[in-house]
Amino acid sequence: MNYLKPGVWALSLLAAASVFAAEPVSVSIDTSKPGPVINKDIYGQFAEHLGSGIYGGLWVGPNSKIPNTKGWRNDVVGALKAMHVPLVRWPGGCFADEYHWKDGIGARDKRPVKVNTNWGGVEESNAVGTHEFFDLVEMLGADAYVNGNLGTGSAQEMSEWIEYMTSDSKSTLANLRRKNGRDKPFKVAYFAIGNEAWGCGGNMTPEHYADLYRNVETFLRAPAPYRPKMIASGGNDNDVSWSDVLSKQLKRQTDGISFHYYTIPTGKWEVKGAATGFAEQEWISTLANTLRMEQHMQRNSAAMDKHDPEKKLGLFVDEWGTWYDVEKGTNAGFLFQQNTLRDALVAALNFNIFHAHADRVRMTNIAQMVNVLQAMIITDKDKMLLTPTYHAFEMYVPFQNATFLPLTLSNNREYALDGASIPEISATAARATDGKVYLALVNTNPRQPADVAISLPGQQVQAVRGRVLTAAAMDAHNTFAAPQAVKPAPFSAKAVDGKLSVQIPAKSVVVVAVE
Ligand code: AHR
Repeated sequence: MNYLKPGVWALSLLAAASVFAAEPVSVSIDTSKPGPVINKDIYGQFAEHLGSGIYGGLWVGPNSKIPNTKGWRNDVVGALKAMHVPLVRWPGGCFADEYHWKDGIGARDKRPVKVNTNWGGVEESNAVGTHEFFDLVEMLGADAYVNGNLGTGSAQEMSEWIEYMTSDSKSTLANLRRKNGRDKPFKVAYFAIGNEAWGCGGNMTPEHYADLYRNVETFLRAPAPYRPKMIASGGNDNDVSWSDVLSKQLKRQTDGISFHYYTIPTGKWEVKGAATGFAEQEWISTLANTLRMEQHMQRNSAAMDKHDPEKKLGLFVDEWGTWYDVEKGTNAGFLFQQNTLRDALVAALNFNIFHAHADRVRMTNIAQMVNVLQAMIITDKDKMLLTPTYHAFEMYVPFQNATFLPLTLSNNREYALDGASIPEISATAARATDGKVYLALVNTNPRQPADVAISLPGQQVQAVRGRVLTAAAMDAHNTFAAPQAVKPAPFSAKAVDGKLSVQIPAKSVVVVAVE
């Protein structure tokens, strides 16, 4: 038998520790080279006439027993205000490609009932129309992004909608708006000409769409203070031809080009993967697939740089988020899915990517705000709960309109499983409008915490203070029985001997102010 003397034991343990204790990841934030402003609209939302995304989830009508203001649920609006929603896109999506705005004005009981052909074939009462939408965004203190109908609509219909919303004249349409209860013009921050023109918006080629766009945009006139930023409907996923063709052909007639990318665990639309109860393989594949947003931003920006090196055009990711198999027993056309800690990490990883491209990416809209796909809020009749994604958005509020700060990440390890591999730590930093430096860190590894050393060259870091979002299970989520199962907790650390080190828990999102 081999015996080690006590002194040798200690030395052996020290040697073993130095072999196994990995060097901490180092995050060095350069405050001397501030980058672009992270437009608040990067934190935009999307509310489509789809499932209970609007009807039931947000809108209950003024006569409902559920407490509401002008028909909009007080509980949901209050929660959305608390997360500082800067912008809402409406009325679709594919729904916008068939929406006729005149169906949604005037006395609600006289509005035509249509069939929502895209989403579940249910009746669309048109109870929510232009005036109701602006009631909502004005209550939220958010800007409006209105999506025009290029599918079954026309240049005339869109031009009349713009006039109805934005004219301060005594024209018949402006007076009709006044008769319907709104004296002053509405503020339309963005207006898109069509949606997914390559698919549900009309199955077009980018060249055909570019011609149509040029024609329609010519007639969308609005007085300067009310003129929305115009958006051309772009490509999706790996297809950069739309960014290429549109940035070349529409340069002088658009403010930006949209882009859509959804995160699907399996990468296959037929069997996407479940929102809960998934294996670790689908944890890593989901995060790996969401990180593809980085390549999408790089490739689309590069295509646009060829024709617009001055970066006058924005790249607007006006649909993104997770898309899972619908929950069993729900209408497949309603796109209802649970939302777990994994979704919070997906959101945070995308924020970090968008910040790094803030010079080109000036607006995005997660799909969607309530009850649909990667939602902020889930409702059931008069009850509501906040999802982990809500908490990620709320934790990142300091980044709205903050100034991007470059950072260097060293010693970052890879989190790997069954041949898949992604960086363990993702980080972003910015100087917020309150003057403080904020740092957000994501640990993608569901098994291991990560030690991270934080420094600001040329400055003493004394402490970090903020919040962490994590949970015991990868698919931890909030339910009506346990609505607070996943929620942020305080997180702080102080420097020791002038050095600041934190431990980022496994599968977590951390946002701190650096002091
Ligand atoms: O967000 C759901 C749908 O996804 C939108 O209506 C459409 O634009 C996209 O395909």
